[in-house]
Amino acid sequence: MERVAAAKRNGKKVTVISTSPAETQRLGIWVGRRLKPGDVISLTGDMGAGKTLFTRGIAEGLGVLRGQGVRSPTFTLVHEYKGRHPIYHIDLYRLRGKELEELGWEEYLCGEGVTVIEAAEKIAQRLPEERLDVLLEREGAQRRRLVLVGYGRRFHPLVKALAMRGRC
Ligand SMILES: Nc1ncnc2c1ncn2[C@@H]1O[C@H](COP(=O)(O)OP(=O)(O)OP(=O)(O)O)[C@@H](O)[C@H]1O
Ligand SMILES: [Mg+2]
Repeated sequence: MERVAAAKRNGKKVTVISTSPAETQRLGIWVGRRLKPGDVISLTGDMGAGKTLFTRGIAEGLGVLRGQGVRSPTFTLVHEYKGRHPIYHIDLYRLRGKELEELGWEEYLCGEGVTVIEAAEKIAQRLPEERLDVLLEREGAQRRRLVLVGYGRRFHPLVKALAMRGRC
């Protein structure tokens, strides 16, 4: 707990306003291009905030072709896509009881790929310290506030670079 709290204090944060689905996807692409095996992205936000769209961008940034079926893994909890690295797309929205253990999700975290978790707040205490948190908030029909907080050596520079890049 203490270590998690310390990591939180050291998070680097940037806020991006998106005014269209395409902008949110482009931000996902920007992030996806910079990801490496073992990276964990945790997405939180209400229904329709844009978590899946952002994930679609990440997949595209990792070389998954557009239209390759990146959508919420509603019944299976996890989808895997083949990009430059494998992408494990987990959605915990419908998570019940012991399903998480059955999924063996921790193996994904240590695997060869990038793990993107929608509704990650459900396992907030169990996420690795080094990760990128993305909170998406709906501010209007087309307007979203995305707050990205990077933890650890992997994600501080990424968030800094994003802040330098300014609005997408
Ligand atoms: N600026 C925007 N960014 C992202 N999505 C937007 C934006 N403006 C409108 N939208 C719309 O909001 C919806 C976002 O849907 P998406 O499935 O990505 O959300 P989600 O957070 O994954 O929802 P769920 O909780 O159901 O998984 C899409 O229909 C998209 O077209
Ligand atoms: Mg979704």
